[in-house]
Order: sequence, then structure tokens, then C-alpha cells
Amino acid sequence: MKGLILSGGKGTRLYPLTYTRAKQLIPVANKPVLFRVIEAIRDAGVTEIGIVIGDTGPEIREAVGDGSRFGVAVTFIPQDEPLGLAHAVKISRDFLGDDRFVMFLGDNVIQGGVSRLIEQFADSSWNAQVVLTAVAEPQHYGVAELEADGRIRRLVEKPREPKSNLALVGIYMFDAHVHEACDAIAPSWRGELEITDAIQWLVDHHLAVHPYVHTGWWIDTGKPIDMLDANDHVLEELAHVIEGTVDGDSRVDGRVTVEAGAQIVNSVVRGPAIIGRNSRIVDSYIGPFTSIYHDVVVERAEIEHSIVLEHSEIRGIPGRIADSLIGRNARLARSSVKPVAHKMTLGDHSDIGLL
Ligand code: DAU
Repeated sequence: MKGLILSGGKGTRLYPLTYTRAKQLIPVANKPVLFRVIEAIRDAGVTEIGIVIGDTGPEIREAVGDGSRFGVAVTFIPQDEPLGLAHAVKISRDFLGDDRFVMFLGDNVIQGGVSRLIEQFADSSWNAQVVLTAVAEPQHYGVAELEADGRIRRLVEKPREPKSNLALVGIYMFDAHVHEACDAIAPSWRGELEITDAIQWLVDHHLAVHPYVHTGWWIDTGKPIDMLDANDHVLEELAHVIEGTVDGDSRVDGRVTVEAGAQIVNSVVRGPAIIGRNSRIVDSYIGPFTSIYHDVVVERAEIEHSIVLEHSEIRGIPGRIADSLIGRNARLARSSVKPVAHKMTLGDHSDIGLL
């Protein structure tokens, strides 16, 4: 088995964070989503992994390296334009050869990993396996309609009138027949070669496509609120450890991770939460479901249910910050310089909710 991770495309829905960063590298509980995907595939025993990259390729190459830090061998596969998931499979043909493979979207987070599923497919005679899950708004996804006996009848990409609430999760397993399917299909109304259409081709040609219905949580981290949701779930499941320092005037409960070099001074941290490497929390309150990434300073401030990225500073803020996503190198501070006013330099597409 090989692994194929799709990390091309543009993360427009996560603007402004993705002006300067690949969306797959935004961390959830202090680990980039893409790293979680690589580890999930590796944990299933798959160590040859291709990563499809687009405009943000250089940043992804630098972050992942040759894969050895994860115990895998990575091959980067540049895609000139995001022309669809099936297009990504087509350009990966040399890497994939005729091997069975698992394809994983680089911006998806799923509960419980996928080791068992991948192992099951590796040993099976199925030509493909797709992972489905029930969602509230199926029209935003690829949707599967099943026969009474559980086999797949039809798959439609983002249907206006969905025939079921079962969405295609961004995890697929294929044998070499998928290449024939990708060659046979035409671009969709949105101009993309859809993997959904390729799978429909397999179904129409009576190949064995096995649907697996996942019942745990799954998040496609497309929008800022999805990042916070994914962060909530992962923080809740993390095995928490304290490697940094917590002074005698601070209170840190059992579900808090304090990474090496981090300092908690005269503060309260209520979990689940994670404080990243070399960050300093001073005279502050960090509430549940908060991830503070590395080299951040929080001083005289209160923050909960938020993600703060590296090298940011939050100082002397009145009131509590909540439900927020704060990018890299951001500075948020109370200013006594007159005129007394809210003063800000915001990136394009920023979204601020003031009291
Ligand atoms: O998240 C699940 C959904 O993912 C499925 O339900 C849909 O059937 C499937 O088509 C896909 O839909 P999206 O519209 O959400 O896909 P998106 O364009 O966001 O791309 C998903 C990932 O694949 C993302 O990490 C970028 C990468 N990608 C995308 C395209 C179109 C590529 O690497 N190359 C591409 O050409």
C-alpha cells in the first residue's frame, strides 16, 4: 500500500490566515493538520507517501522535509493548478504505479485514526473503499446514496437536492482500476475532475466499492469555525503532560499540556488546553478549549475557546477573548497613547467582534 495526501488548492475560506500559510499547516492542538494526516497513515503501516502540492508547495516541503522525522519516505508531486481530486490522482500515476493506495485530503481531521480501515482494505479484494459519515448539510459535500443492502447506488458531488445525509469523508482507498476511471471522466460543472465521478465510474463498471460509515467525529477544516471545532475535539482526546514550568501561584488542572520551555506564572489554566513550547502565560486566565502555539506571550489577559498562533503577543486586554483565531506575529495590547481609541492594523478579510 502507498499513501497519497492532497495538499494543493487554495484555502480561500480560511482567509486571512491562509494568505501567508498553507491551510494544511494550521495547527490543531498545536500540531499542523497535515502532520496528523501523515501520522494517521504511518500508524496504519504505510510508509511510502506522496504529497500533492500547489502554490503553497515550498512551505509544505520545508515543514515536512523528506518525511524521516515521521518515519516515512515522502515524494512531493507538484500540481500546476487545483483541477480536481481526480486530476491529483492522474498526476500521481508515476508515484503510485499499480499499487493499492489510501488517499487522504490534507485538511481533514478524523476521530480515532484510520489504521484498521486501511489494514482491512490492504487485505481485501475490494477495488475501492470510501468513508462516509452522516452530516447536517450534505449539499456541501460529495453525497452517497446507498441500496437497501448497503451497496453504493450513486455518488453526487455537492448535489443541490441531496438524496441522503451521508457525505464522502476525504479518505478513499483504491486499487489500480481508479486510473482507468480518472482517464474516462470529464470535468464537472465547476471545472474539476471529481473523484466522486471516478468512483461512480467504478460502481457503474461493477467494480467492488465498499462503503464504510464512520460514526465518530470528522472535520473538514475549511472555515475558521471548523478549526475551532477540530481543536475542541483533539484537545479533549489528547493525553496531557506538563513539560514546562508552572509556578506556585498558578493553578493548572489535569487536562492541560504545558510543552517544554513554556512558563505559567501567577495564572490559571483550565483544560482541556495546550500551551506551546517557549510560550509565557503571566497574570492571565486561559480557559477550556484553547491552544496557544509556540513562542506566544499572554500577559494580564483572559482567553478561552481560541487558537493563538506562534510569536503572537496578547497584553493587558480588558474583558475576555473567546471563539477567536489569532494568526502569527499578531500583537494585541491595551494602549494608553492618546487619543484613546481602538487602533488596529488588520489584514485583508479580517473579522473582529468588539464589545
Ligand atoms: O471534505 C470532504 C469533501 O472533499 C468531499 O465530501 C467531496 O466529495 C470532495 O470533492 C472534497 O470537496 P471539497 O470541495 O471540500 O475539496 P477541496 O477543494 O476543499 O479540496 C480538498 C483538499 O484537496 C484540500 O486539502 C486541497 C486539496 N486539493 C484540492 C483540489 C481541488 C488538491 O490537492 N488538488 C486539487 O486539485
